[in-house]
Amino acid sequence: MKESDVRKIRKAMEKELDAKRYEHTLGVAYTAAALAMCYGKDRDKALLAGLLHDCAKCLSNEKRISICEKHNISINEAEQKNPFLLHAKVGSFLAMQKYGVTDQEVISAVLWHTTGRPDMTWLEKIVFVADYIEPNRNQAPNLDAIRKLAFQDLDKALLWILKDTLDYLHAGKMEIDRMTQKTYEYYCMNAEEGDSALSADADEKEERK
Ligand SMILES: [Fe+2]
Ligand SMILES: [Fe+2]
Repeated sequence: MKESDVRKIRKAMEKELDAKRYEHTLGVAYTAAALAMCYGKDRDKALLAGLLHDCAKCLSNEKRISICEKHNISINEAEQKNPFLLHAKVGSFLAMQKYGVTDQEVISAVLWHTTGRPDMTWLEKIVFVADYIEPNRNQAPNLDAIRKLAFQDLDKALLWILKDTLDYLHAGKMEIDRMTQKTYEYYCMNAEEGDSALSADADEKEERK
C-alpha cells in the first residue's frame, strides 16, 4: 500500500470516527508502528492496521448487526449480547470492502484486535498490545509496567494484558468472549518457565469455570 493510500485512510478515519476515537486510533497506529520498529517488522503494515482497527467502532449496533446479516458474517453468543464486540469482525470486513485493503495480515490484525487468538501473528500481537498501551489510555492497572514490557518482551506484555482484561471482566461480571479466555490459556501454556505467578493464576481460573 502506498503512502498516499495510508493518508487517504487516515482522512477517512477522521471523518468516520468521533474525535476521541480518532485520537485513540492515531495513538494505536503510531504505537503499533513504534513496536514494529522495535522488533524489526514492517512499520507501514503496523501503521495501517492500527489506523483501521476501530473503523467500525462508531457505527450503531443496528448497523453492525445488519452488515453481518447482509454479508453472512456469523454472530456468536457473546456478540449477540454485546454487539459492540462485533466492531472487530465488521471492521475487518470494511477494511477489505470499503477501504480496499488486500493484505490478509492487516485484515486479520483488525479481526483479532479485541480478543486475540492462540498463536497470533506478529502484527496481530502488535495491534492488540498497542490498543491497550497507546498514550491516551489511562484507566487500566499496571499500564506503566506493561508499556515498558511491550518494548522488551511482546509475548509477556500480551499475556499480562490478557490477564488484566480477564480480571477486569470477571470483577465486573461482564460477558467474556470465549476466544479471550482461550488466548490467555494458550499464552500461559507457552509462557517461559519462571513466569509461575501468571501460570498459577491461569490454573486457578480454569478451576473457577
Ligand atoms: Fe476496538
Ligand atoms: Fe481500539
